Amino acid sequence: MIRYASYPSLEARVAFVTGGGSGIGASIVEHLCAQRARVAFVDIDRAASPALVETIAARGHPAPLFISCDLRDVAALRAAVAEARGQLGPIRVLVNNAANDEHHALEAELALEAPARRHRARRALLRRRRQRRLHQPELRRRRRLGVSAQPGRS
Ligand SMILES: NC(=O)c1ccc[n+]([C@@H]2O[C@H](COP(=O)([O-])OP(=O)(O)OC[C@H]3O[C@@H](n4cnc5c(N)ncnc54)[C@H](O)[C@@H]3O)[C@@H](O)[C@H]2O)c1
Repeated sequence: MIRYASYPSLEARVAFVTGGGSGIGASIVEHLCAQRARVAFVDIDRAASPALVETIAARGHPAPLFISCDLRDVAALRAAVAEARGQLGPIRVLVNNAANDEHHALEAELALEAPARRHRARRALLRRRRQRRLHQPELRRRRRLGVSAQPGRS
């Protein structure tokens, strides 16, 4: 069994978590509830969020308050904060977790582009080698004459 540290200062403290329905936010909600904090969270996921509330309650921890809210709707967010404060009391902890993380999509895009970039780089290398080969007789001639080895320069 995993044992966690206990933080008495979190007990009964009101926390507000954005994007608390799944992923890292859900883990934050779970851990705050395990510390017996009074947690409200907002999320757009209406399937995962109520399921999380049930899971936490089944463990015997104080059930968090889920408020369905899209953060991009500022009026709805203000209403959610007011509801959390009204039901749980003044908010003392804010975990601003939700974000539209496109980092991994970008990585995947770059990975898809990589073969094309490698192909372009290889073609450029072959082109440079071919040019060098074409210039070899001229370079030798210039070396013999003792002038700059770089074609086009004297
Ligand atoms: N997972 C990673 O590797 C990683 C790395 C660095 C930073 N982060 C950051 O950590 C945070 C959480 O990451 P995660 O991987 O758990 O993300 P996630 O996408 O799995 O979860 C985000 C949660 O926020 C909710 N959400 C998304 N848009 C919302 C909106 N407009 N309104 C309300 N709720 C919304 C989602 O429904 C989800 O429950 C994000 O801010 C992310 O950018 C994550």
